[in-house]
Amino acid sequence: MKEKLELIKHNTLDAISKCASIDELEQIRIDIVGRKGELTSILRSLKDLSPQERGEVGKLSNVIKETINDAIDNRKNDVERALLTNRLSEEWIDVTLDKESEFTSNNGYLHPLSQIQHEIEDIFTSMGFAVLDGPEVETEYYNFEALNIPKHHPARDMQDTFWTEDNNLLRTHTSAIQVRGMEKNEPPFRVIGPGRVFRYEATDASHENTFYQVEGMMVDKDISVSNLIFFMKTLLKEIFKKEVKVRLRPGYFPFVEPGFELDINCLICGGNGCSVCKQTGWVELLPCGLVHPNVLKSGGIDPDKWSGFAFGLGLNRLVMMGYGINDIRHFQSGDIRFVQQF
Ligand code: PHE
Repeated sequence: MKEKLELIKHNTLDAISKCASIDELEQIRIDIVGRKGELTSILRSLKDLSPQERGEVGKLSNVIKETINDAIDNRKNDVERALLTNRLSEEWIDVTLDKESEFTSNNGYLHPLSQIQHEIEDIFTSMGFAVLDGPEVETEYYNFEALNIPKHHPARDMQDTFWTEDNNLLRTHTSAIQVRGMEKNEPPFRVIGPGRVFRYEATDASHENTFYQVEGMMVDKDISVSNLIFFMKTLLKEIFKKEVKVRLRPGYFPFVEPGFELDINCLICGGNGCSVCKQTGWVELLPCGLVHPNVLKSGGIDPDKWSGFAFGLGLNRLVMMGYGINDIRHFQSGDIRFVQQF
């Protein structure tokens, strides 16, 4: 009888140590030490033994029962821990991962021109401007005539472009959106119009045939140059995260009167003079001015009642200044190493 008990103990402990499933371990417990288990039925049959044997075998089978129960409990713990470790190693997410890391940046990201465009849209919408769109293939009317640039005006030479066979053109500036803005809105209104523009140009480090602008226009009662300066300074302060000094120089554009070139204090040298500002301390940033009465008229607005300002901000230039990019051709190069830096 004792041998039989030892054999059961040996086989059961062996089975337990090889078992890797909680359910199977439970089944072993039922088969061996359960109510109808092997060991239990031996204990039940003790009554047939002599009193001395009964005592020894009884003691032994109780010890074995305890050993088996302990072995099952320990093995269960091991199996549970192993399952958990397995799950943790398969399902882990590294919440401390840097958002700029290789792992996440492979998911895609916005081109620096889109990033700056979105930033400018946010700044202007927070100041009550609506964002307008316009077609990249424009009519001569929207791109030139309505902007006080009639057919043989010399200003057209500055903005040579690509023409379609049906006499439309790739817009040379987002100012075409101004005209659409005036047609769509009753004054007073404030709009910006971001977009891609085209010029028929020989390309070099600072000239490209395709680039990006954001047009801005505000029409209201008694708009003056000081309103223009206020909005430009607010924009620049938001973009560059500091107070930026500006100055206006006269500039000629047929659709504004007076027209200006707005310069900013060179951010590289702080105005002392360096190679970026060509030792002048100033960098040309954006053309602007008060909307010409003829332009208001072609937009159906009475220039005796209303006035406005307009500006055209070049996005490529802005990104180039912000990041120290020395060649405008990088933007459209399609070189992944370029865009991956932002
Ligand atoms: N449209 C002009 C250009 O692209 C810029 C400009 C816009 C000038 C608005 C004055 C007012 O050159």
